[in-house]
Amino acid sequence: MKFDVVTAFPGMLEGPLGHSIVRRARESGLVELRLHDLRDYASDKHRKVDDTPYGGGGGMVLMPGPLFTAVDDISLRFPERRTRTILLCPQGERFDQGHALRLSGYDRLILLCGHYEGVDERVREHLADESISIGDYVLTGGEIPAMVLVDALTRLIPGALGDEDAARNDSFSNGRFDHPQYTRPFEFRGWRVPEVLTSGDHAAVDAWRRDRALERTARVRPDLLRNGTAESDY
Ligand SMILES: C[S@@+](CC[C@H](N)C(=O)[O-])C[C@H]1O[C@@H](n2cnc3c(N)ncnc32)[C@H](O)[C@@H]1O
Repeated sequence: MKFDVVTAFPGMLEGPLGHSIVRRARESGLVELRLHDLRDYASDKHRKVDDTPYGGGGGMVLMPGPLFTAVDDISLRFPERRTRTILLCPQGERFDQGHALRLSGYDRLILLCGHYEGVDERVREHLADESISIGDYVLTGGEIPAMVLVDALTRLIPGALGDEDAARNDSFSNGRFDHPQYTRPFEFRGWRVPEVLTSGDHAAVDAWRRDRALERTARVRPDLLRNGTAESDY
């Protein structure tokens, strides 16, 4: 899977996406991440990418020109058949595991990061295929949301986790939370691992895990169960 991220602050992404599973996926060629500096697509010698909002008010707005030019250039230089262009925006659809699964069906995502007061509306209307929010709060820019998408989609790529079973029971994959996890030591500060997990009885372990997962989901996120996505567990 390929990601082309357009941002006025490319340095924000390189560090966080250069570690652990995403780094390994990049090194093994499962993921290609290209960072594009929006200022490279500015039309003036000061590399200006923002301006004041029409109608007044504070803050700066990213101009449409550099973003459109960036996407044109990326599409020419790196043509990909199944591409989706996404504007990161608090006013977009709220990202969840379902979005991650759907978007993992594309060959390449072009991720457009806003900043300051936001992005000229014509980018949403005429350049982006869709807008995505990572939650009901406002961040300073689209860089962290872009990283969230890259990370969430990378772990869905076959081979990226090293152990295919690892993602099978992940929270939200089955419409409920993952089950609780324990590792050594068996006893820590007087708290013991539930005996069933060391019993060697696989059916009992499976039942215990399913019950704990459903129990916590019902307590913390009953909406997930109401949506009917965990019906197979009943
Ligand atoms: C300060 S925000 C702009 C907020 C905008 N004025 C509003 O109230 O909807 C600047 C940029 O950060 C990004 N951003 C902020 N919060 C986000 C969120 N929850 N999800 C996705 N992107 C977000 C977007 O790219 C946005 O253009």
